[in-house]
Amino acid sequence: MKSKEYLSMLQKILHLVDEGVHVLDKNGNTIIYNDAMSKLEKMETKEVIKKPFGEVFKNLNNENSTLLKALKYGESTTNLKQTYLNKYGKEITTINSTLPVVVNDEVVAVVEVAKNITKMAEMSHTILKLQNEIGKPEIAKTKKIRKYNFNNIIGESSNFTEVIEKAKKASKNSASVFIFGETGTGKELIAQSIHYESKRKDKPFIAQNCAALPESLLEGLLFGTSKGGFTGAVDRAGLFEQANGGTLLLDEINSMPYELQAKLLRVLQENYIRRVGGTRDIAIDVRIISTSNEHPKIILKEGKLRKDLFYRLNVIQISIPPLRERKDDVLMLAHMFIEKYNERLNKEVVSISEDAKENLLNYEYPGNVRELENIIMSAMSMSDDQAGTLNSSNFSIQKTDVEYINNHEEIGNEGIDEYLGNLEKKIIKNALKINNNNITKAAETLKIKRQTLQHKIKKYEINI
Ligand SMILES: Nc1ncnc2c1ncn2[C@@H]1O[C@H](COP(=O)(O)OP(=O)(O)OP(=O)(O)O)[C@@H](O)[C@H]1O
Ligand SMILES: [Mg+2]
Repeated sequence: MKSKEYLSMLQKILHLVDEGVHVLDKNGNTIIYNDAMSKLEKMETKEVIKKPFGEVFKNLNNENSTLLKALKYGESTTNLKQTYLNKYGKEITTINSTLPVVVNDEVVAVVEVAKNITKMAEMSHTILKLQNEIGKPEIAKTKKIRKYNFNNIIGESSNFTEVIEKAKKASKNSASVFIFGETGTGKELIAQSIHYESKRKDKPFIAQNCAALPESLLEGLLFGTSKGGFTGAVDRAGLFEQANGGTLLLDEINSMPYELQAKLLRVLQENYIRRVGGTRDIAIDVRIISTSNEHPKIILKEGKLRKDLFYRLNVIQISIPPLRERKDDVLMLAHMFIEKYNERLNKEVVSISEDAKENLLNYEYPGNVRELENIIMSAMSMSDDQAGTLNSSNFSIQKTDVEYINNHEEIGNEGIDEYLGNLEKKIIKNALKINNNNITKAAETLKIKRQTLQHKIKKYEINI
């Protein structure tokens, strides 16, 4: 391919990519500045192209700009967070990777690829600010933070009682706890109960979801940042410091970025942290409770969690069974939720009708206790009755499958495959009907992927 063709191809590619691309020649003049970069920095291409970099970005220099560092020292950086001001003084936060292009031992150009995370950075600052405020005792008193303890936990099935016993034992010491359970099984409830039953109860309980933020933001959030760490950084305590003496809940640890896991492991081994960009080691004493909604075997097998970190976190393992495996607890929980919503909705429901009980007991609860609560809450708020018995007419669960099974107690001549096929077809038809044949919505109702539903519609030759 001729160089002209290459160039034209390159321009097409650069036009299409979502990441900002900025390339300087060896003299520090901009030779490539794509649309995404122009959008990100709110600068017109013509304001930047062919101009010396230092003239356009006046507050950046050889020491704080990754592009200039790459040009001057041949240094490459990957996924580095940068905060800087554009020409109009607007603060921009990006994740940058910068590479020098070296030919015959000479840097001939430098390439920077940038992802805009300004919104994300603003969000993480807000989270930290709020968390700092919550941490202040005088504010904590006035703010209603939902605190759970063992008295709030309902359930008497033997497999669930074992879980509670184990959690109570865990509250007697400070070892790391790894809680595993499907969504809505009560992981947070148990984590908080352990904390508020333990010696640490008067110190903070702080929860952070590890899946919500990219690595560099989560790192700053957990360990804090230090002035001078990167452009625009401020001195701020991270969650480890804020939770000192208390408990830090690392929610969805299976989604924590892999690189950060190594840093977390080091902190847990050494019991001190260093703020991002800081030089001082700060001793910390924080109990770690982590949660995952995937089985540890799977997350280890798929390499989502470092084994060495897992062993540190998994000193006590608590595995909460899904609600469908402890059906004995369903009605007990349902009554508790009825009481809760009697109060909130100003109602006086006292009992559950027989058919409603049957419905509740036959359902599989993919969303576990949270889903049961939603079913009760919406049935109570939809019902016109102020008092009396809760019946199933307002249940948002798929009644058809329950009815169908009850009406066809005997499989008869069909055989189980055909029987189940017909049952599935009927459930799908019903889901489509209640969603006006909207496949996306029907898939949501059925809690399956849209593609899976489409496949089944074809298989069962359902006309929509
Ligand atoms: N055994 C229980 N007794 C009383 N309430 C419960 C119980 N289990 C769960 N809940 C309630 O169900 C809801 C979901 O619980 P929680 O937030 O602890 O679940 P989770 O496992 O952390 O879910 P997710 O994985 O989606 O974060 C909460 O409102 C909680 O109070
Ligand atoms: Mg949770």
